[in-house]
Order: sequence, then structure tokens, then C-alpha cells
Amino acid sequence: MNILLLGSGGREHAIAYKIAQSDNCTHLFVAPGNAGTTNLNGRSSNVALDNADFDAIRDFVLQHEVRMVVVGPEAPLVAGIADYFHNEPSLKEVMIIGPSKEGATLEGSKDYAKAFMQRHNIPTAQYRTFTKDTVEEGCRFLETLKAPYVLKADGLAAGKGVLILDSLDEAKQELHAMLEDAKFGDASSRVVIEEYLSGIELSVFVLTDGHSYLLLPSAKDYKRIGEGDTGLNTGGMGSISPVPFADEAFLQKVEERIVAPTVKGLEQENIDYKGFIFVGLMNCGGDPYVIEYNVRMGDPETESVFPRIKSDVVALFEHTYRSTLGQTALEIDPRTAACVMMVAGGYPEHYEKGNEITGMEQVQGSLIFHAGTKLSGDKVLTNGGRVMAITSLADSLPEALKQSFANVEKIQWKDKYFRHDIGQDLLKYL
Ligand code: AMP
Ligand code: GLY
Repeated sequence: MNILLLGSGGREHAIAYKIAQSDNCTHLFVAPGNAGTTNLNGRSSNVALDNADFDAIRDFVLQHEVRMVVVGPEAPLVAGIADYFHNEPSLKEVMIIGPSKEGATLEGSKDYAKAFMQRHNIPTAQYRTFTKDTVEEGCRFLETLKAPYVLKADGLAAGKGVLILDSLDEAKQELHAMLEDAKFGDASSRVVIEEYLSGIELSVFVLTDGHSYLLLPSAKDYKRIGEGDTGLNTGGMGSISPVPFADEAFLQKVEERIVAPTVKGLEQENIDYKGFIFVGLMNCGGDPYVIEYNVRMGDPETESVFPRIKSDVVALFEHTYRSTLGQTALEIDPRTAACVMMVAGGYPEHYEKGNEITGMEQVQGSLIFHAGTKLSGDKVLTNGGRVMAITSLADSLPEALKQSFANVEKIQWKDKYFRHDIGQDLLKYL
């Protein structure tokens, strides 16, 4: 069948790489894609479609006899693309992989997600939500908590809406700025204040048809720009899968206390959900707590999780759409995947675009997943902050890291940057 994948990052290249390997895929269109998503396995191409223009997507799907649409990023989901497909008679036969707008609210509103977790007894930090009218109450609530203080803009804020502050005065000032001065625009018209969880973070990924689910491999990402987890937050500077401290006993707790009740909660509340759930977790002394839900795969976690999936992903997606996931099993490569993200100098602040990338042909034994790249004639140019991810699979984490870093050195462009310490914090758990 013909398949359309929406998105343009490293996540989408990794998903596209797996889709293009499937015998069920005749042709894969990636919209808008990047320099890496054309001609995968001789059967993919990019198409310039705006992910917010659902009518244009419908017209393309009908014109090119697309039978399956896979949604990479959250924005079209939060905007209701799955509902659009379900409600549009001409798209009745098209399998859309991604939750309904209501389901996507698990990512689109932190307050909604917290209330959902509370209703279903899913472990998460204690919290309260405040608005402009209750800002003084919010300040009183902060006084009852211990530092550090966690303030979250309710809505989507491009990963920037969470503040963690050591001083009570600063926390109160920021609460006022978020609620009264729209510090994060509309996203901070409501603010969730929550208890600080101390522990080590990881992510677990789930593919669900809204009734059954498959647990995908765990992963850990590296959010800060600087080595030793310092400096500004980024989209993610690397990822490792599996996470060595997430042993079977811990993952069993995650499944029993979090994943199963989450899927059951969706079912009980009649929320149509056919897609991924990305559960951001804190391991607090061996007990998992949910930090956040996302309604898509993570980036760059996908670049280490998807290469480990041996099963045919198109078949998995079809089971997801038809609510038959319970009849399938997942085949996972037991090796460790280490992904190192290469970024443009200056990212996540100002950076250049349009620099030529060289040396990719010298890469051996690793996968290259493009993120912010574009083709210009036969050249590949940088076209974003996160430029490309290098992923290696090996029998051990040190070997996988060694392989990725050796290949990272072979790829060049003006002012490239990467973190040399990806995965180092995990070696002590091996
Ligand atoms: P979020 O956007 O909710 O994932 O939050 C961004 C980051 O803030 C997370 O990845 C955590 O590192 C941190 N964070 C969020 N909530 C908490 C919390 N309750 N306790 C400690 N750290 C948190
Ligand atoms: N790597 C974090 C995210 O995709 O949100």
C-alpha cells in the first residue's frame, strides 16, 4: 500500500526507515521530510505538504491512493487530524495512526493529563492548577511546598514551558509572569504547580489501539546542550536504548502501575486512541512516577528505539488501526542502541543554516538519521538546529557508543557540535 508519514525530523527519518523496509509498503511519501527521507529502500519520496492543512492532506491522500497515514509530531494530533480523517467520508478507508484530539490532550494540556492520572490512580507528583484569578492562591500553595519549585505552563510551549526554581520569591514572580503577563502566551493561561520529584529520568513507549498495547523498548535522552547535563534545554542531544537501570522488575512496575491503567483509563473514558504514548518517567528509588505524557514518539528516542524493532512496523500499524494489537507480539533486537545527535553550532540559540555537510559516505556500521537537512542539487545542507543523529547497535553500550562517536567524527560541516558524554552516566549500571 502507499503510505504517508507526516513530519520532518530525525524521528520521522527513523520511522520512515522502518516503514520502507516493510513488504507492505509500496511507496512512502514523507511530508515535508528531509534530505534523508527520499529514496529509502528505493521506495520513498518527499512531498511539500503543510501538516496544518488537513484539506490539502486529504486531497493528496485521495490523489495518490494512500491507504495509511502515520503522524510523527504532536501538533497535527492536538489540532485534531485523526478526528478530521474519521469524520471525512472520502477518507473512511484510510488508516490514520495517531490519537483523537481528546486523546492528544494528554500532551496538549498538563492539567488534563494530571487530572486523568488522578482519576486512574496513576503515580505522579502532587499538584494543583491555577489561573489569573487564583494567582494569590497559587503563591500560598507554593509556600506549602519545599524547593525546588516546579511550574508548568498548561499548554504546548515548544518544550520550554516548565520552570524549576530554587527560590520561593522567584517562583512567585514567575507564576505572576506566566499567568498575568502571558510569559508563554496562551499556553500559560493555566499553570500547574507540582511537587518536585527527585530521581533519574527515562522514557517508556507504548503502541496502543485503545484497548490492547505493546510495550516498546525504553530509552533515556539527554536534554541539555552542555556536557554533564549543563546549559540550555534542547530537543534532545542523544539517546540510549535500552536503559540499563530499567530492569525487568522496574519495567513490570511501570507496566502494572502506569501503562495498563493508562490504556484502561482511555478505554473507560471512551477516548479514541490509536497510536503511540510516550511516558516520561522519574525513577524515584525504584518506584516509577509519570512526569508527562506525550502522544507521539520521542525525538531522539525514536532514533534508538526504532532500529531495535525487528517486527514489520506497517503490520503493527495496521493492527493498531483495526484494534487487533492484542493478537500480535513485538520482536525486539536485544542489542543496545546509542544515538548521538549532531547539531549546528550555537543551537539552541542562534545558529546558521545552509552549511554543506560532508563525509557521510565514510560512515560505516552506523545508521544516519537526518533531522534538519535539505538537498540542494547533489549537496546536503544543514537546515535546522538538530542536523543529524548517528545510531549504532552493538552487544554492549560501550561498543555502541564507540561506534557512534567514531562515525560522528567523519561527518563535517562548519561549526558542528555534539556532546561527547552521551551514555556515560549509564555505564555504572552495567
Ligand atoms: P516536561 O515538559 O513535563 O517533561 O518537563 C520538562 C522537564 O522538567 C522534565 O523532563 C524533567 O526533567 C523536569 N521535571 C518536570 N516535572 C518535574 C517534577 N515534578 N520533578 C522534577 N523534575 C521535573
Ligand atoms: N526527546 C523528548 C521529546 O521528544 O519530547
